[in-house]
Amino acid sequence: MTVTRRTFIRALGLAGGAGAAYEAMATIGLAPRAGDDPAWAPPARDARAAGRRVLVLGAGPAGLAAAHELGKVGYDVSVVEARTRPGGRVWSVRAGTEETDLNGETQRCTFAPGHFFNLGATRIPQSHVTLDYCRELGVEIQPFGNQNANTVVNYTDAGALAGTSVTYRAAKADTFGYVSELLHKATARGALDDVLTAADKEALSEFLVSLGDLSSDGRYLGSPRRGYAREPGGGTDAGTPTVPYPMSSVIRSGLGRNFAFDYEYDQATMMFTPVGGMDRIHHALAERIGADRIRYGTAVTGLHNTPDGVTVDVVPVAGGPVERLTADEVVCTLPPHLVTRLDTNLPAAVLAAQRAAKPSSSGKLGIEYTRRWWETDERIYGGASNTDRDIAQIMFPYDHFHADRGVVVGYYSSGARQRAFESLTHRQRLAKALDEGAAIHGEKYRSDIASSFSGSWAVTRWSESAWASWEATSPEYRLLTQPAGRLWFAGDHLSHAIAWQHGAFTSARSTVSALHARVAGGA
Ligand code: FAD
Ligand code: PHE
Repeated sequence: MTVTRRTFIRALGLAGGAGAAYEAMATIGLAPRAGDDPAWAPPARDARAAGRRVLVLGAGPAGLAAAHELGKVGYDVSVVEARTRPGGRVWSVRAGTEETDLNGETQRCTFAPGHFFNLGATRIPQSHVTLDYCRELGVEIQPFGNQNANTVVNYTDAGALAGTSVTYRAAKADTFGYVSELLHKATARGALDDVLTAADKEALSEFLVSLGDLSSDGRYLGSPRRGYAREPGGGTDAGTPTVPYPMSSVIRSGLGRNFAFDYEYDQATMMFTPVGGMDRIHHALAERIGADRIRYGTAVTGLHNTPDGVTVDVVPVAGGPVERLTADEVVCTLPPHLVTRLDTNLPAAVLAAQRAAKPSSSGKLGIEYTRRWWETDERIYGGASNTDRDIAQIMFPYDHFHADRGVVVGYYSSGARQRAFESLTHRQRLAKALDEGAAIHGEKYRSDIASSFSGSWAVTRWSESAWASWEATSPEYRLLTQPAGRLWFAGDHLSHAIAWQHGAFTSARSTVSALHARVAGGA
């Protein structure tokens, strides 16, 4: 009997169980490995890759993942990176971090040992392959609190509740309570009789009573879900309940404008983050690739396809002569709008496509407090408060609980709200953040500050953008998913998960697959 791939796999399945069959399929490229990216069949080690030089431009997530995966197949890989660290827009700021931004200001971080904040990537949803790399690389992870019932919303345009800090638990209890009451009432009055049967109405009513904590006659009268003015205790102490805001105030305030955030596909509980900073993943990747294969502090200035490969001009960032490197293939993961500044012979359409991925603004400010007032005074352990002010949100640390200090992210805003900080000096950014933060969490927000550090991605060298703004359906996007000669592109901008490491990793993987398929095919 001829042993086809199918009978071989079937035989393995019978003898070794489904797991063995699956692994075999993965090995020959038919199926993903268990727990891995379903769209990714990692190419196996292949003699055809041996001795073939691939130069990867950029040591952000896409470049490092590309180098790591190409190395596994057997390519002779090296990486060129302008910064003196791996990770790109994954940037964990801690004592010793020093940065001069494009406004010309230099900041030095002086946080106490062990304390940090992630100025770029900070959270990982359960579905992202980023977690698979953590597993593969032995990077320890911990839960990241992406929502917290004890943090607050505070909106300046909230009508009767303008400028009032309302805990998420109270905002949710009142909003879901009144919305449930209204829908319950409309249903009971027969307003939905054209779409609901009697049985539907009964089931809906039962659901609304539970969702809104309604009374038996379908009214929202407040709920312990709002929390207590004074906590219940032992013996006869039932605590002091809180009183709901009036229905009209709650509806008109828009208190619920951010509720959908924490059940968005990528933002839902549970979220995770590496212990000690997101950059742990990228230091681990860099270590696997090998220190001798990564040139930091080296900027790419030119890029040319030649008849038998690619030339890459590089220059030491600290100063020095231009050097011309050659490679059989190049994977370029530089931010697209920065590629257009290089000296290249790329076709005009490719350069136009790079330009179409528009840069954007986002940034964060970390404030090191010597008193964890959010825990002691407000019982906040992680999560974020939200506002319509320019700071957009205040993110509380998910680490070092009960320590003598901690780093609060005093703003994480994007677009126009970040542009309000972009051209300010660090001192001015801090002053603005403290004014806005104090309006939400009170005057204590200004006290017990040891140090701070801020960054705005549009004025951060080697990025000049937070993430690309464009559609994955555009012809320009599709053009960059194809190689230009022996030059390949990768990066989160070439994925369906822009602004996520997952996007950078999956883009790198698909570029590695395509590159190897072409090499293996003899091209
Ligand atoms: P980059 O990380 O930008 O890497 C590109 C590399 O190219 C950089 O290292 C850069 O220094 C280098 N480079 C640039 N020019 C040159 C040159 N001329 N020569 C040599 N090297 C050069 N992701 C998550 O998973 N979770 C999050 O919570 C999250 N939050 C984010 C919050 C913010 C504010 C930002 C900005 C990003 C966030 N991300 C998050 C997204 C994540 O950081 C990116 O998706 C990821 O870094 C993209 O990787 P990349 O390799 O495509 O690009
Ligand atoms: N991934 C980034 C973050 O989680 C940017 C982002 C924000 C993406 C919100 C989608 C939604 O902060």
